Amino acid sequence: MILAIMGSPRRGGNSDLLLDEFLKGVRDGGGEFEKISVRDLNISPCQGCRACKETGECVISDDMQSIYGKLLTADKIVISAPNYFYGLPAQCKALIDRCQALWARKRILRGESDSSPKEAFALLVGATGGKELFTGPLMTIRYFLESLAARLTGSLLYRKIEKLGDIKNHPTALKEAYRSGVKFGNSHLTQNL
Ligand SMILES: Cc1cc2nc3c(=O)[nH]c(=O)nc-3n(C[C@H](O)[C@H](O)[C@H](O)COP(=O)(O)O)c2cc1C
Repeated sequence: MILAIMGSPRRGGNSDLLLDEFLKGVRDGGGEFEKISVRDLNISPCQGCRACKETGECVISDDMQSIYGKLLTADKIVISAPNYFYGLPAQCKALIDRCQALWARKRILRGESDSSPKEAFALLVGATGGKELFTGPLMTIRYFLESLAARLTGSLLYRKIEKLGDIKNHPTALKEAYRSGVKFGNSHLTQNL
């Protein structure tokens, strides 16, 4: 099962359209997925209380409690998000920051994650065109994935995508997302992560 994380607060936005196309590819390739959207979830920011350091569990009682299990048991992860100030939207970052509890679990388990090794894919969009546009979001995503014993094996990054639906006018984006979804849904880990 692929866990698909929709990381934009904008419903039907560019990253949402890209992710849906990617997931069409997954489905047509015979893969299964569950999509979660951060905008529909009540996930508080990490309070930095460090309680998880001792227990590996987060003390905040909200929708994140049901997401931990999905993250740990998914075979693969795909995350789609827009660039916000060279980072990720706050709702998406809140989910990621709450994975500090998974880092703590790893430490408690002496470096062994209780997450199965998995591969991951990122879909990112941004309005401007700079070379470093995706450096920040990609770094955040890589370290988020590390808390899950997951590795980023592919990404599609689209610059100059701003207004609602701009991605539909991109000459190749939706086709590339579909094809990547087919491939990702069918791929198997070939090496130890
Ligand atoms: C709060 C906010 C911050 C943004 N910051 C950036 C930015 O730093 N660089 C950039 O290129 N685009 C930035 N954008 C533009 C979005 O990345 C762009 O509109 C994107 O296509 C939105 O994707 P979505 O439709 O999936 O939400 C920002 C947009 C918002 C609302």
